[in-house]
Amino acid sequence: MPKSKKVSESLTIKTEMIMPNDTNTLGNLMGGNLMRMVDVVGAIAAQKHSNRIVVTASIDNVSFENVVPLGDVVTLEAKVTRAFNTSMEVIVEVYSENIPAGTKKQTNTAFLTFVAVDQSGRPIEIPEAVPETDRDKELYDAALRRRQLRLILSGRMQPHDASELKAIFGL
Ligand SMILES: CC(C)(COP(=O)(O)OP(=O)(O)OC[C@H]1O[C@@H](n2cnc3c(N)ncnc32)[C@H](O)[C@@H]1OP(=O)(O)O)[C@@H](O)C(=O)NCCC(=O)NCCS
Repeated sequence: MPKSKKVSESLTIKTEMIMPNDTNTLGNLMGGNLMRMVDVVGAIAAQKHSNRIVVTASIDNVSFENVVPLGDVVTLEAKVTRAFNTSMEVIVEVYSENIPAGTKKQTNTAFLTFVAVDQSGRPIEIPEAVPETDRDKELYDAALRRRQLRLILSGRMQPHDASELKAIFGL
C-alpha cells in the first residue's frame, strides 16, 4: 500500500439519463434516487483511493436547489479531498444537462465521509491524499474544518477540542 496517493487517482465520473423510474410524481428526479447515486459514486472514489472496502460514515447537508427533469442527463463527479487516519472526505458534484436544448447546470454539491474497513468491518488506515490543483488545495485545507464540524454535530467531538473552529464557537 503506498503512503500517499494523488487526489486525481480517485476521480470517478458517472453519467446517466433520468428515466421514468427515477422520478417523483412531478416528473423530476426524486431526491432519494439522486442521493443513492451520490453515495455509490462517492464510495467508488473512496475505494479507488484506499483500495479497501469502504462504508459511508456520514453525508453532510445536501440541498436540492434545481429540479432535474425526466430526460436530462446527470453527471456526477467524485474525488477524495483529504484522507485522515481511516476516514476520507469525498466531494461529489452533480451536473444536469439537457443535451437537445444545449443547457447545463450544477445541481448539487455533497461532501461524504467514508471509512475504509477490513473484512470484519474494522476501520483500517489509508494512504494520505495529495492535492494537486489550487482548487484541490483549497478543498484539502477546508476539509479539516468540515471534519471538525461534522464530528461535533455527530457528538464525536467537543467544540472546545475543535482547533479549527474555535472562533465560530466563540471559544
Ligand atoms: C463508520 C464506522 C466504521 C466507524 O466505526 P467506529 O468503531 O466508530 O470507529 P472509530 O471511532 O475508530 O472511527 C473511525 C473513523 O470514522 C470517523 N467517523 C466515525 N463516525 C463519523 C461520522 N459520523 N462522520 C464522520 N466521520 C466519522 C472517525 O472520525 C474516524 O476517522 P479517522 O480514523 O480518520 O480519524 C462504524 O460506525 C460503522 O460501521 N458504521 C456503519 C457504516 C454503514 O453501514 N454505512 C452505511 C449506512 S446504511
